[in-house]
Amino acid sequence: MKFGIIGLGNIGRVHAKNIQDGLVGNAELVAVANQPIESMDDFKAQGIACFGDASELIESGLCDAVIVALPTHLHAPIGIQALEAGLHLIMEKPLACHKAEGERILAARQSESQTIGLMMNQRTHPCYVKIKQWIDAGETGELQRVSWTMTNWFRPEIYYQSSPWRATWKGEGGGVLMNQCPHNIDVLQWLVGMPSNVRAQCSFGKYHDIEVEDEVNAYFEFPNGATGQFSASTGEAPGSNRLEIVGDLGTIITDGNEARLLRNSESVSGFSRRTDEMFGAPETTEEVYRPTEAVNQHAAILNNFVQAANGEAELIAPADAGLESLQLAGAMIFSTWIQDEVSLPLDSMAYEKAILEKIAQSKPREVLQTAAKVDMSKSYR
Ligand SMILES: NC(=O)c1ccc[n+]([C@@H]2O[C@H](COP(=O)([O-])OP(=O)(O)OC[C@H]3O[C@@H](n4cnc5c(N)ncnc54)[C@H](O)[C@@H]3O)[C@@H](O)[C@H]2O)c1
Repeated sequence: MKFGIIGLGNIGRVHAKNIQDGLVGNAELVAVANQPIESMDDFKAQGIACFGDASELIESGLCDAVIVALPTHLHAPIGIQALEAGLHLIMEKPLACHKAEGERILAARQSESQTIGLMMNQRTHPCYVKIKQWIDAGETGELQRVSWTMTNWFRPEIYYQSSPWRATWKGEGGGVLMNQCPHNIDVLQWLVGMPSNVRAQCSFGKYHDIEVEDEVNAYFEFPNGATGQFSASTGEAPGSNRLEIVGDLGTIITDGNEARLLRNSESVSGFSRRTDEMFGAPETTEEVYRPTEAVNQHAAILNNFVQAANGEAELIAPADAGLESLQLAGAMIFSTWIQDEVSLPLDSMAYEKAILEKIAQSKPREVLQTAAKVDMSKSYR
């Protein structure tokens, strides 16, 4: 598959390196697009076609597929162009700035043979893969409660100051929910499904000089009556990552380094009804899973994408699934704006109307001219 990468910033360069290092089977990097065009001189020197304009790359006829790794507000216009040109598309996360934009991207598909993937790379994280296997095998039984404290996404002020688009309504449609947490929100709904109701309190610019949310506390209700909590922050250090999934038959706990399954000897609801022990509880046994090898998650998603486009595999992260994380993030923001509970599915038109009002008031950021030190390996949790 001949790949073009549009947007050669922090993550675009990671994808380029993975392809060029041969970590993606049957893939070749043939073109890149970025602004300014001089920023790609290292690629030009390798004979890779360089474009200062994304549309030129799309129309060049050089590529079978494009990876869109642009600032989030450009995902929809450029993603739609790529699909209308008949290309396969892998979109960086999040799919778009809000659900209605995401719907427009998906509607631009010209043919069923086009593969549209999403870089939700944490779906290949070994702990989450293991947890998915446990849940799908019925190990936890009916969901009672899910809780995710995801506060180890600390970002210092320079992270925001050095970017014109990050953490602005206009640039990405939100803050921690739209930039750092799309992975966690995606994994959450991939594992336990979507809640039916959301009540949340987001704090906007609480720890940073930004207009969007940098702290979130949310309460979920699921169709079966199960409950959930979600907390996120870019203002805490060291912060923590703790996911608990509690079911009638077992509990799963992970911190992202290992995953533990606590199996109940029998169903909690059954035990509760039959026991005569006033302080009794089911026995539990514990299985601990510790990944032995790190996975190159971005390369894994690209490998799967190529295989899916060749009809050899199901997509691990289809772009359609990106609508779920978009609407869940949107519901948390919307709930704060209206100070009320929000039912899902989110009304994409009502949400678009509300966010367009925020975008209209969004103030462009003056970018600090100090070069920030960038170590992308520290950006993933
Ligand atoms: N999956 C992940 O692990 C991961 C990690 C980081 C970022 N992301 C996502 O990837 C996207 C990009 O993030 P980033 O941190 O790499 O941003 P970035 O700002 O470092 O890079 C964006 C690049 O796009 C270029 N650009 C901007 N407008 C352009 C245009 N009109 N045409 C061509 N090039 C243009 C910029 O010059 C820049 O080089 C975001 O949506 C972000 O959420 C995903």
